[in-house]
Amino acid sequence: MNTPSWQARVLTLFPEMFPGPLGASLAGRALQAGIWALETVDIRAFARDKHRSVDDMPFGGGPGMVMRPDVLAEALDATLAGRPAGEPRIYFSPRGRRLDQALVRELVAAGGATLVCGRFEGVDERVLEARGLLEVSLGDFVLSGGEIAALALLDAVVRLLPGVVGAAGSLAEESFAEGLLEYPHYTRPQTWEGRAVPEVLLSGHHEKIKAWRQAEAERITKARRADLWERHAAATTQDQTKKGKVQP
Ligand SMILES: C[S@@+](CC[C@H](N)C(=O)[O-])C[C@H]1O[C@@H](n2cnc3c(N)ncnc32)[C@H](O)[C@@H]1O
Repeated sequence: MNTPSWQARVLTLFPEMFPGPLGASLAGRALQAGIWALETVDIRAFARDKHRSVDDMPFGGGPGMVMRPDVLAEALDATLAGRPAGEPRIYFSPRGRRLDQALVRELVAAGGATLVCGRFEGVDERVLEARGLLEVSLGDFVLSGGEIAALALLDAVVRLLPGVVGAAGSLAEESFAEGLLEYPHYTRPQTWEGRAVPEVLLSGHHEKIKAWRQAEAERITKARRADLWERHAAATTQDQTKKGKVQP
């Protein structure tokens, strides 16, 4: 088997959650085929006391428990031994950088990543600083652990690896590929519950279809995501300025 093109290491208190849904469909087939590799590390295996504790009470009081820095650091050091120093190390956290397609692409290009899944109230701050972990959030909500965030991130990464998604064109046209949300899709039947498919899609005129899809992608992005639309509009103006079509 060839060396996998992307290598994931996941540190978790629940290794049995992996590969979970990533064992099925596209990601599962790619895992079987060796396009990517997954190593799960049980953080509890690095606990030192007879109770195998991985957490303790927070200094300063307050609810919940905090994951100990010494146990997590040992798990991380053992996992990272021999890995390139610059390879991304991520800790999932609601206060982190929001996961988006740009970050997914950065991770694809990095060739692999080490992902730390928190539990309880989270991890001791010092281990984040000492091991240079990048905090990444799945969104503005609180999960009970980082495992679902890790599964989401891995799914998004794996589908961009060469050979995973059959038609490469479908990646080029999907949401965020051009900084826009995707245009609407239609299939048979041509009329359903009195709703007809837009005429232009039946025309066979590729240029007109392309223009309609671009206009729809722009309309939907503008209506639903002002933030994306502003960025797209700024990038388009910059591009046109470079090509000399618009005066700076
Ligand atoms: C119950 S949460 C801790 C929440 C934390 N006390 C707070 O208020 O931000 C336990 C773990 O779930 C993960 N987690 C929770 N929400 C997340 C999110 N939105 N994105 C990524 N990871 C999340 C983190 O690893 C976190 O350490």
